[in-house]
Amino acid sequence: MTAPRLRVAVLASGRGSNLQALIVARDAGALPVDFVVVGSDKTNAGALQLAKDAGIPTFTLKAKDFASRRDFDLELFRRLDASGAQVLVLAGFMRIIDGEALSPWVGRMINIHPSLLPKYRGLHTHQRALEAGDEEHGASVHYVTAELDGGPVIAQARISIRAGDDEAILAQRLLTFEHQLLPSVLKLIAEGRLALVAPNRVALDGKLLDAPLQLRHGSLVD
Ligand code: GRF
Repeated sequence: MTAPRLRVAVLASGRGSNLQALIVARDAGALPVDFVVVGSDKTNAGALQLAKDAGIPTFTLKAKDFASRRDFDLELFRRLDASGAQVLVLAGFMRIIDGEALSPWVGRMINIHPSLLPKYRGLHTHQRALEAGDEEHGASVHYVTAELDGGPVIAQARISIRAGDDEAILAQRLLTFEHQLLPSVLKLIAEGRLALVAPNRVALDGKLLDAPLQLRHGSLVD
């Protein structure tokens, strides 16, 4: 008998290219998961259309329909629980989630962030890397905890900053690597190889990592 596939929910606010990369990896047989739902806080998010095209159920919650952030997040997690998802991927979900509301999902929830965390938490990461004169930029996939962009980092992709890069060029070049990084990390989770070891360490195959895994030539290495 084949093992049941991991049931995954995805939240996205925008165009959804990272969601698309996950769907492509699944369709290629490289990612043994089922996407049970895609949720958004934006009715016009491209991610919702991509999900519908792939036959994945969707929902939207609008902030203005809720009295508080906490009420929004409680309803969000009620929907995610109801979907039967075991793991939650934030793929460009542009809302801060209430720490108490997300606590039952700690260890089962990952986010992709476009910087080499702990550098540049929050927004405008490409511009901040350029303004700092950094030679290197990148993306991180981390476990989500109550601290914004602060949970333990699982894996990173690194790129060189080139002369002539501007925010848009750098973001676009990094995106190609994000599309390899996120499916690679989710695959490790689906294979049961990754764990969050409280309070802030990551274990691979039962062994604590001293540093995030690195994406090299399309594969994650220690
Ligand atoms: C990505 O750059 C991701 O790192 C960040 O938001 C962006 C989402 O892009 N969290 P997309 O919607 O997946 O195309």
